[in-house]
Amino acid sequence: MRTLGIVAKTHDSGLALLKDGVPEFVLEEERFNRIKKTNKFPKHSVKAAFSELGIGIGEVDAITTPWDIRQLRRTFLSLVGGRFPLSLSFLLPSSHVAQQNQIVLLNQYLEKGLREHLGARALPPIVNVGHHNSHAAMFFASPFDEALVLVMDGYGDDSSSSAYLGRGNTLERHWSTGVLNSAGLVYTFVTQHLGFAGFGDEGKVMALAAFGENTYVNRFRDVIKPTPDGGYAVNMDYFSYNAFGELKPFKRKFLDTFGPARLPDEALNDRHRDVAFALQAVTEEIVLCVVRSLLKKFPVRDMCMVGGVALNCVANAKILEQTDVRRIWVPPCASDTGAPLGSALWHYHQTLGHARGFEMTHAFYGQAYSEDRIQQALEQAGLKYRRLPEAQMLRRAAQDLADGKIVGWFQGRFEMGPRALGNRSILADPRRAEMRDHLNARVKQRESFRPFAPAVLIERASEFFEIDQPDPFMTLAPRVRRDKQNVIAAAVHVDGTGRIQTVERSANPRYYGLIEEFGRITGVPVLLNTSFNRKEPIVATPEDAIACYLASGMDVLVLGDYYTTDRGPNGAAQEREHIRAAPARATASQAALTARASARP
Ligand SMILES: [Fe+2]
Repeated sequence: MRTLGIVAKTHDSGLALLKDGVPEFVLEEERFNRIKKTNKFPKHSVKAAFSELGIGIGEVDAITTPWDIRQLRRTFLSLVGGRFPLSLSFLLPSSHVAQQNQIVLLNQYLEKGLREHLGARALPPIVNVGHHNSHAAMFFASPFDEALVLVMDGYGDDSSSSAYLGRGNTLERHWSTGVLNSAGLVYTFVTQHLGFAGFGDEGKVMALAAFGENTYVNRFRDVIKPTPDGGYAVNMDYFSYNAFGELKPFKRKFLDTFGPARLPDEALNDRHRDVAFALQAVTEEIVLCVVRSLLKKFPVRDMCMVGGVALNCVANAKILEQTDVRRIWVPPCASDTGAPLGSALWHYHQTLGHARGFEMTHAFYGQAYSEDRIQQALEQAGLKYRRLPEAQMLRRAAQDLADGKIVGWFQGRFEMGPRALGNRSILADPRRAEMRDHLNARVKQRESFRPFAPAVLIERASEFFEIDQPDPFMTLAPRVRRDKQNVIAAAVHVDGTGRIQTVERSANPRYYGLIEEFGRITGVPVLLNTSFNRKEPIVATPEDAIACYLASGMDVLVLGDYYTTDRGPNGAAQEREHIRAAPARATASQAALTARASARP
């Protein structure tokens, strides 16, 4: 049985194609059309998946979407009715940019797009799966037979937080909040208030929070409060997003308490950092409170966390550290990037009752590109290159990394979800403290406060980090062991944590082999891993990768079996500064931030 999960008209448009409950492709359209978090019909993804498999829509038995359109219409009407006439602004597209009004006609839109791009008249029926049901269904791909499943995101079609109990091939929802009583939405709006992009830059605010102080935490506890039933309530004295959406999310009280909004290019000051700190601290408190109350109700100790809030790896680590949860699993596509896949899994297991037979152990469900295509791209760019056998390539790249070079690493199928996990990654040496500033300023061109993930061999993870479970998808930020903080200095965030990725040989032999070889040379089986991109979506094709390499300060590019350090026809003029000559400005600002954070008692 083949199932197509698909979505558009909301952020993260894309698809998942499954055969007998096992994903064949999970594709986000942004990788192809190069528009971050695009809401366009996923025509490139459709073309890629169907032509790669050599099938037509006739071979698909069911189409699923991660929105219950009827429920969404009811919710929309009740929201407009609830604050009428103020809420008429909800009808304006600018009041909810991330999700277009036309989503209420999603089925018709998808049918039209599929007919147009697959040239088919007859389509299988479209099944609308509830949004949180779709998130929760990632449980069916988890390692657990039984688990608590907590979904927290901006909003779904009827809720913004839901808890399920998953057993075998069934899920049962036991708790949910209202659709706009949303800790996720508060996080998004405060992210915007701090001058970053909502529905995308929340991770920046999570990183910034570590540099803040306790100034606003008590005041923020009045913004979201735990409720006696084990849930939480957003205090709408601070917010008007229930009437005006993104047009005017805050009431005067929020601005009086936490200060005016930061402009995107305004310098970050202590107030901004302290508001981020308070937002993160209170979000963690709420998440922990919800989890503890659910643990009291259900005798399970394993947990799946899904939805956009599940990308908060700092909060996830605290669940493990400060509650009775024994193991936590967060899929690599915890945000809406995984919603089409989840909708298909829900239909296959929950609705049709099929048994489970698949565990997600890697995230490589994207497209791969042939050797010919890679070679052609290198030729077209005018780059000199060498083809190396695997063992030689691993030795060469590991030695480059040990010598302080930055390596663009492009292999096989690209990852689903927002994290690069070793197939579209920029890699560097974590032992060099200055590497973080260099990568941020010269290669990624992003804020100096943002940390990089340490990728570590699974067998050595607990030697470096306070963790005793796998984290293959970079979803936890455990503490770096005190005696290792100087050893992998560039991988340690200012709060002493690291956004870890544990790497198993079976999940990605070549990536594992590279880290292993680096460990053999240096004694440290850890690499800094950041996504292969700058401000655009993560690269998909060899051409994207070459363009990113040439425009940035990477020293080496590895595309499959091909290795180059050439900079092209003008390469001689582009001698890279050595890593030790990292820009002084970025280093100074990082040092100032670090000094403030480490001065804390
Ligand atoms: Fe969601």
